[in-house]
Amino acid sequence: MPAKNPKKLPAHVRENRAFWDRVAPQWVAAGRKAWASDDPYWGVWGLPESQVGLLPADMNGTDAIELGCGTGYVSGWMARRGARVVGIDNSERQLDTARELSGEHGVELTLVHGNAEVVPYPDASFDFAISEYGAAIWCDPHVWIPEAHRLLRPSGELVFLGNTPLATITTPPSGDVSSALLHRDYFGLHRTDWTEVEIDPGGIEFPLPISSWFALFKQTGFEVVDYLELQAPAEMDTDRFHSPVEWAKRWPYEHVWRLRKR
Ligand SMILES: C[S@@+](CC[C@H](N)C(=O)[O-])C[C@H]1O[C@@H](n2cnc3c(N)ncnc32)[C@H](O)[C@@H]1O
Repeated sequence: MPAKNPKKLPAHVRENRAFWDRVAPQWVAAGRKAWASDDPYWGVWGLPESQVGLLPADMNGTDAIELGCGTGYVSGWMARRGARVVGIDNSERQLDTARELSGEHGVELTLVHGNAEVVPYPDASFDFAISEYGAAIWCDPHVWIPEAHRLLRPSGELVFLGNTPLATITTPPSGDVSSALLHRDYFGLHRTDWTEVEIDPGGIEFPLPISSWFALFKQTGFEVVDYLELQAPAEMDTDRFHSPVEWAKRWPYEHVWRLRKR
């Protein structure tokens, strides 16, 4: 499906599109590795599905969507479990990788170039929606959470994994990795712009305080089924993807929400 007129995209979606189109080549190797594994693993520390449990064991005949699918390996894992899968992503370059890797693995996916805040599918099209560092961090929660709710059938589940607000507020203004100090306000946390930082500039992300996530889910019509704070494994000793492993052994760097549509 063609992307909508880019000029009409919100500023953060335009900025993040340019960012992801630029860095997409750096994500091919990680995508290729994840596609090669039949056992899902999650987040920057690669925690196994047996520990984190993000996917339903049986997805046979279900309709699933990945919101911000990137290189598409999560979509691939769902398709291998029997789901019909749509992956939507804001970056055509990331989708090039997803197309190439799904082709190599003989996995059929429907890949859509677009903004996960406005998905071109009718209400109640899906049984399951997921995002691992896609819409989960790059989309405005006040827009994408109601959109995910709209897309799901009654009792459908939304699962997403991203950074905790603690990881954001402990990141120094330089953009260096999280520290043991609080560098920004917690209350009011929302649009966070990493485009101008000195170290490892990025795009625009949307962390929320935990109580604001709860309020948003309640207001949207989601029940919270589970909430996980992920800890880096004790045996791991190297930072990954600009994420500090020793920090993440002490404090929650990533979290997971599992929600059910009421
Ligand atoms: C770190 S990747 C996560 C996807 C997947 N887990 C992976 O690692 O390949 C982040 C993805 O979110 C996508 N993204 C950012 N903003 C988006 C938006 N508004 N709608 C859809 N996708 C978006 C980016 O283009 C990028 O491919």
